[in-house]
Amino acid sequence: MSIQWTEDLSTGFTEIDNQHKELFSRINEFHQACKLGKGRGKVRETIEFLEDYVIMHFSTEENYMEKYNYPAYNSHRIEHQKFIKNLEDIKEDFEKQGAGVSLVVNINHMIVEWLHKHIRRVDKALANFLRDKTMT
Ligand SMILES: [Fe+2]
Repeated sequence: MSIQWTEDLSTGFTEIDNQHKELFSRINEFHQACKLGKGRGKVRETIEFLEDYVIMHFSTEENYMEKYNYPAYNSHRIEHQKFIKNLEDIKEDFEKQGAGVSLVVNINHMIVEWLHKHIRRVDKALANFLRDKTMT
């Protein structure tokens, strides 16, 4: 399963769009590794990538939301915090138990859910709002 970033997800802000594209490409790499039975070997790298990524990416989005007085700022931010918590739990699991099959499944579940529930819905709503703001 390959996951494609599509133009309808564009926020009109290159910085956010490039960060989303980067996440899509990393998710694809992880899925590819899983398909080849090498998911466990990619776990550390993926967790470390996500840790850096969320700090940078969430603050980029949150800065734009603040700057343009986004009405759903709080609920959007809560979702970011939940993802960070989820990632922390996964990291803790990894440190305690190493990269087992269930951890690989959990990571996949977390990122696929993020893609469908957050990027395609919550970030899409933000994208529509920002596009409206900047085109008027
Ligand atoms: Fe977001």
